[in-house]
Amino acid sequence: MSSAGRVRVHPGMLEGTVTVPGDKSLSHRCLLIGALVDGEVLVEGLAPSGDVAATAGALRALGVSIELSPVPGGSLHGRVRGPLGAAGSGAIVPIDCGNSGTTMRLLAGLVAGTGARVELDGDASLRRRPVDRILAPLREMGSTLEARDDRLPPLRVLARATRAVTWHSPVASAQIKSAILLAGLGVDGETVVHSPAPSRDHTERMLRAGGVSVTTDLEADGSETVTLRPARPVLTSLRAARDPSAAAFWHVAAACGSGVIVTPGLCLNPGRTGAIEVLQSFGASIVVDGALEVAGEPVGRVTVAPAQLGAAEVSGALVVRTLDELPVLALAGAMSSGGLDVRDAEELRVKESDRITTVAALFSALGMRFEERSDGFRVPGGQRPAGGVVQAHGDHRIAMTAAIAATLGTGPVDISGFSAVATSYPSFLSDLEALGGRVEVLDD
Ligand code: S3P
Repeated sequence: MSSAGRVRVHPGMLEGTVTVPGDKSLSHRCLLIGALVDGEVLVEGLAPSGDVAATAGALRALGVSIELSPVPGGSLHGRVRGPLGAAGSGAIVPIDCGNSGTTMRLLAGLVAGTGARVELDGDASLRRRPVDRILAPLREMGSTLEARDDRLPPLRVLARATRAVTWHSPVASAQIKSAILLAGLGVDGETVVHSPAPSRDHTERMLRAGGVSVTTDLEADGSETVTLRPARPVLTSLRAARDPSAAAFWHVAAACGSGVIVTPGLCLNPGRTGAIEVLQSFGASIVVDGALEVAGEPVGRVTVAPAQLGAAEVSGALVVRTLDELPVLALAGAMSSGGLDVRDAEELRVKESDRITTVAALFSALGMRFEERSDGFRVPGGQRPAGGVVQAHGDHRIAMTAAIAATLGTGPVDISGFSAVATSYPSFLSDLEALGGRVEVLDD
């Protein structure tokens, strides 16, 4: 079953093995870094998702040849032939980033480093998400950028970055860090990015695999310093492991009382395993095995079985490593005995939706208590979702959290705007059915 506009998901047990799509973050980087290579790069395991299609479309508009086709199992394999140059150094190339913040921010850095001129725009959700946090460092590097109110998309990158920067980012964000590093590939001198905590380091790992000198130092106060020397990556193949943030939906379902669920081939980069650690701190039964290094990233199988969940807290550096999974972890909090406390997570407010407000609305529609805070939330334990009518608010992770709530709840949940799942997980409904879930499409 493909994505649909309005669906009804029924309560019921899920169990079995599910191979989730290729990781979204890795898929973007396979295309973006592949496009910098002088020659052909084979790419494997890419997510067949809207966000990744936006990155492919953007690079094609800049003259990069990208061929991708689906292989059995649903991922995309193909080839990227760069290098991305200063295509369009006269005219401004309009680029639609769709719903994808990663496309917009990483591409801005990449383009600043290569000298193309672009206008990056997106859908209504992306137009509400701030870009000032990349404007400042890229300007410091000598690039010229313009944005609506100097803060919001559309974002224009009009001139090439010329000098290296040492940037102290106030937020730990892989998108900001990656934008600066990608721009740094094309300037003279060493680019240094300090962040208050480590964030996912896929860009650094992939550049290292391409022979670029990138070093990471973890400081005594928990902050991170990444130093990059400019170079053109040299690579012949890149591969995306499967998406741990997509698997988190099944992990929460299993931990909260569905059957045993097995998710093979997941990217287990330490920047991505926060949700597994939070479920473990709740007392969930989780086995991680087969962890091997594949294409520079740790990859393994995660098996989750039902268990009595206690209580958990997420704050500080752990927030950066669980941010995308916090909506569905809120559900684990509700179904635990002791609840979930989340602090220091104001970044939730600038994702595909304001995820503190939209999770609050979802919980209220399903009859559950949820205490909103400016920088997070508290979900009391001992609750179970009721049936109800909810909205995805254009946010793929809210749509999938609602579907998991339905399977664990006491009545069917009607979800509007469900097609938002195509952003990261177009086959979510067919995987839900393959695991034993019951779904009705109400409206295409
Ligand atoms: C991403 C980084 C994260 C994450 C997003 C993808 C990336 O954002 O929320 O879904 O691919 O770099 P920030 O690290 O910028 O918060």
